[in-house]
Amino acid sequence: MGLVDKTILTGVKPTGAPHIGNYIGAIRPALQLAATHERSYLFIADYHALNAVHDPEALRRDSYQVAACWLALGLDLNKTVLYRQSEIPEIFELTQLLCAVTPKGLMDRAHSYKAAMDKNREEGRDDPDHGVNMGLYTYPLLMAADILVAQTDIVPVGKDQVQHLEFTRDMAAYFNNAFLPVFKLPEYQLEKAAGDLLPGVDGRKMSKSYNNHIPVFMDSAARRKLVMKIVTDSKLPAEPKNADGSVIFRLYTHFAGNNEVQAMRDAFEKGGMGYGDAKQKLFEALELTFEKPTQIYNSYMTDTKKLDELLAAGADKARKIARETLSTAREAAGLKRLR
Ligand code: ADP
Ligand code: TRP
Repeated sequence: MGLVDKTILTGVKPTGAPHIGNYIGAIRPALQLAATHERSYLFIADYHALNAVHDPEALRRDSYQVAACWLALGLDLNKTVLYRQSEIPEIFELTQLLCAVTPKGLMDRAHSYKAAMDKNREEGRDDPDHGVNMGLYTYPLLMAADILVAQTDIVPVGKDQVQHLEFTRDMAAYFNNAFLPVFKLPEYQLEKAAGDLLPGVDGRKMSKSYNNHIPVFMDSAARRKLVMKIVTDSKLPAEPKNADGSVIFRLYTHFAGNNEVQAMRDAFEKGGMGYGDAKQKLFEALELTFEKPTQIYNSYMTDTKKLDELLAAGADKARKIARETLSTAREAAGLKRLR
């Protein structure tokens, strides 16, 4: 099958290891897009993280985690360019060029900035900008530069990022109209609908903030223990059960094949399958999916020198297009091309 002749780009903030909901909802779809399109870029948004993380050791470690995570889950370096945002200086210069054509009001309207102000008001502070640094305020400018510098066609995003993509298109158009049509206007591709969210072990939406999540990378004993903690009702094995109401079953549908899923549904609905058995089946399906990736992840995390090399090689590749785009933008604005 031929590849779609488009450029995919995704940025990932380094904020700790992913859970299986992140995998199904965000990571796997992005990997699929990368595999089916001609060009793809995946980068660690470390400068975006720096606005909130002022712990160098944590930033370093979490950045390695992102790289190790995507590599372990199947990112193909022959196909996808993987790099740290902070290793592409062209992005930051482009941010400055975008500053020149972007009205301040656009930043004032950004959801993330408005949310910070709302929080200050709720907490009864006099200063609505309390705790807001310029990095948070100008977050959308840097994100637009990330995307535009690579002449991106499609950005896979969660709902919370849609406004950033709309702003990116606005900024590209401001620049193109003020000078020359240098930038492609990127589209966003929305990730799974909210209805498909994976439940956590307590039955609520799986989320790090509820601490009900099953991490992607963990050893088998810990994974087994977590699966055994999943909430159930007190029906006996022989009793018929509502499959779709069971957290075990709902998770199982994402990790087992169609026949296995159907078999568990039948066994639940007719009666005869106990929750213990079902948990064991879910555990086995998770092992099959994540045992190998966990080994690969661990081996990268103990060889961060290797990760540094891979990321530096990625940065070299990404800088080619970044330089070209920046040079063209500089020239369009009346500055010298890069030498
Ligand atoms: P968390 O709620 O654990 O902090 P994030 O909000 O950082 O997760 O989510 C990152 C991405 O992972 C989201 O854009 C979403 O697509 C996906 N995601 C998060 N939680 C789930 C879930 N329970 N089921 C499916 N996808 C999810
Ligand atoms: N803002 C994104 C997030 O919080 C991370 C990000 C930064 C990004 N730059 C990007 C995502 C460019 C896509 C494209 O998840």
